[in-house]
Amino acid sequence: MSVEIFDKVKKVLEDIKSAAPKSKEEVEQFRIRYVGSKNIIKPLFGEIRHIPNELKKEFGQLVNIVKQSAENKFNGLKEAVNAAGENGEAQQIDLSAPGDPIGLGTRHPISITMNRIIDIFARIGFVVAEDREIEDDWHNFTAMNTPADHPARDMQDTFYLMNSTEMLLRTHTSSVQARVMTSQEPPIRIIAPGRVYRNETISARSHCQFHQVEGLYIDENVSFADLKQTLNYFATEMYGADTKIRLRPSYFPFTEPSAEMDVYMGTADDKSKRLTKGTGWLEVLGCGMVDPAVLDNCNIDSKKFTGFAFGIGIERSAMQFYDISDIRLLFENDVRFLNQFKSAF
Ligand code: DAH
Repeated sequence: MSVEIFDKVKKVLEDIKSAAPKSKEEVEQFRIRYVGSKNIIKPLFGEIRHIPNELKKEFGQLVNIVKQSAENKFNGLKEAVNAAGENGEAQQIDLSAPGDPIGLGTRHPISITMNRIIDIFARIGFVVAEDREIEDDWHNFTAMNTPADHPARDMQDTFYLMNSTEMLLRTHTSSVQARVMTSQEPPIRIIAPGRVYRNETISARSHCQFHQVEGLYIDENVSFADLKQTLNYFATEMYGADTKIRLRPSYFPFTEPSAEMDVYMGTADDKSKRLTKGTGWLEVLGCGMVDPAVLDNCNIDSKKFTGFAFGIGIERSAMQFYDISDIRLLFENDVRFLNQFKSAF
């Protein structure tokens, strides 16, 4: 009798070990049979009454092993079923499914605008020259014909580095003119994009950091007519084939004569009216013939060479092009704002 009951318990253990339920339903059946409140192991404990004393311990241990095996196996099955799909089959990777889209970034509207300008000038032979944002006083001011006591320094409120009267954050990309002229021989034909800094109160219309693209052309016999033709070409490429420009006399220490270029936007719509303050003309850049004093400062023979230069403000063009009403949006890098800009540049 006791041999039989031992065999019966061992058979249950075998059954548990070899059971391979797959679906949720089969696992549930396994649970009911071996782990549930009416499982078939429980009554086996009762059988201990019929076991001779000397075998009781061994029998008890065996039934415990059976109980433990059933619980362990069920726990494992439960996890597998939870991880599996609706119909209980283990999830398989569908190799034919389309992949998740890769989130493509977008360029910043300032970069797009700068790249458009660079592209326009590259087509007529200007090469990009980039240089440092932390400059010395000489390259930013003195070389550009703006010595220490020059009143024009007040036009550009400067950030000096801490405890320094010498090092500063460049106030304009004109500093790159000095960098290029002191390191290259004419003919020089460069375009210098970059960020500049001025100690100005931040508002919807102005910021303490902004961007410019500087242009410089030096060779023999460069004339104001060359400047005007170049700017006319730029305006039609940038703003459209029918674009009209006008050059207003102006003053910059590093050019003589100097001018500011306006582009005609008209006053037909509200946007143009607002941008041009009702005049129809949008101020786009400063320019002029390089002052001979600047050439001399940078060791270029002003008797032999002449040149023209211009500096384009980027923010205003970008804001006009994309209809952005607050300059601060350009510096906050909120992806909800940036995601709107798509470009080939
Ligand atoms: N540097 C000037 C500014 O920041 C802009 C400028 C005017 C640049 C005339 C030039 C120029 O090269 O010829 O306001």
